[in-house]
Amino acid sequence: MDLSLTQKRFLNEWMEFLKIPSVSADPAYKNDVKTAAEWVNNALQKAGCKHTEIIETPGHPIVYGEYKVDPNLPTILVYGHYDVQPPDPIELWDSPPFEPVIKTTEIHPEGAVFARGACDDKGQVFMHVKALEVMLSEGAIDCNIKFMIEGEEEVGSDNLEDFVRNNNEKLKCDVILISDTGMISKTQPSISTGLRGLSYMEVIVTGPNRDLHSGLYGGSVANPINILCEMIAKLHDENRKITIPGFYDRVEELSQEERNEMAKAPFDLEEFKSSIGINAVQGEEGYSNEERRTIRPTLDVNGIWGGYTGEGAKTVIASKAHAKISMRLVPGQEWNEISDLFTTYFKSLAPEGVTVEVEKHHGGYAYVTPTETIGYQAAHKAYLETFGIPPIPSRGGGSIPIVPMFEKELGVKSILMGFGLDSDAIHSPNEHYGLFNFFKGIDTIPNFYRHYVALYNEK
Ligand code: BES
Ligand code: MN
Ligand code: MN
Repeated sequence: MDLSLTQKRFLNEWMEFLKIPSVSADPAYKNDVKTAAEWVNNALQKAGCKHTEIIETPGHPIVYGEYKVDPNLPTILVYGHYDVQPPDPIELWDSPPFEPVIKTTEIHPEGAVFARGACDDKGQVFMHVKALEVMLSEGAIDCNIKFMIEGEEEVGSDNLEDFVRNNNEKLKCDVILISDTGMISKTQPSISTGLRGLSYMEVIVTGPNRDLHSGLYGGSVANPINILCEMIAKLHDENRKITIPGFYDRVEELSQEERNEMAKAPFDLEEFKSSIGINAVQGEEGYSNEERRTIRPTLDVNGIWGGYTGEGAKTVIASKAHAKISMRLVPGQEWNEISDLFTTYFKSLAPEGVTVEVEKHHGGYAYVTPTETIGYQAAHKAYLETFGIPPIPSRGGGSIPIVPMFEKELGVKSILMGFGLDSDAIHSPNEHYGLFNFFKGIDTIPNFYRHYVALYNEK
């Protein structure tokens, strides 16, 4: 890929950003998260935001910027996050997670930047900063642009929720623009029309009051790890339906027409399997692979531990067994209610001889966006212009809890203009983001503003 001088500069700046280990989940990185906030604040200033500020919260700071605020013009609020997921397991990275390098892959012969946050979401946030710079270098823009780039998305955005609730006036806007999702492929752009909700739980099963010799006691006491596995196994039935009573009660089913429409999106099952190295897919009976990972609710164990996991063998019955369990939710489901249903049911599965504690972590609602809005239409036109191919609407499986919150608190819909690919390995070792995707994003975003303003004025 032949890069212009400007593109090279953008690339270098992006790689500087990726060197800051802004891991929001781990208090050891608190100062780095702060450094990343300052970096974003600076970048917004340099790009042309006349007003920027770093807003402290009880957690990590929010970076806020305004390009201009003229009450006669439409206002677009750009949201993104500068925090990243922990890089673990570090030993599975081919190069260190906070030392970005450019490498080529089969999908990215032009090169991709490998680093934690390369795609999710530093790379995508930075596209917006640079798109502003490009637009301003070409003249003034006929709309107000506000930026809100937060540092706690990967840990549930709790403090941002409070901030949004208390700052309706400051955040007042006509549409919210977000690049924190993906698209189908480099040759088939898509616009996310939905996100799943989330309920995240942690469970502890406790048996004897101390670890026991598994020879002296084995066979006569309930082993918490065995029991935990049995309890987890009971959470699905033989058709891979979730067994928690009431779990599906509020699920909004899609019409057959909507499902047929979804099924038209290009998808290759063999490609899907080989891309993640599996020989068969598995999921809820009665739904296609793509439905299972977007419009259906799920339950997955994210981590499980207890007992001896070190080198060699130790004969022991652990006193405690732990698991982290998440449920992806769909429109209709109330995440707090689901967390309660889970708690009651999980506790009811405990046999005599153990006690069970269940703790709620964060959660959030699912989100859907209609395609008839001018925001969606502007995004459609923007992609069509840069890719030469009309983008197709596509429901996503991930969650961004602040998006449904924006709708509730500000009454504003979000347009999910993501440029990532499933193969970017977000949250995994060797996360990367293609140069193609990064520069296409920078080209596409200005088109969105232009079309949005035009459609707004026609209205
Ligand atoms: N950007 C992702 C969400 C995403 C990715 C949505 C790709 C659709 C397509 C976001 O940063 C994320 O990882 N969200 C978390 C939820 C959060 C509460 C930790 C998730 O989905 O697990
Ligand atoms: Mn993200
Ligand atoms: Mn993420």
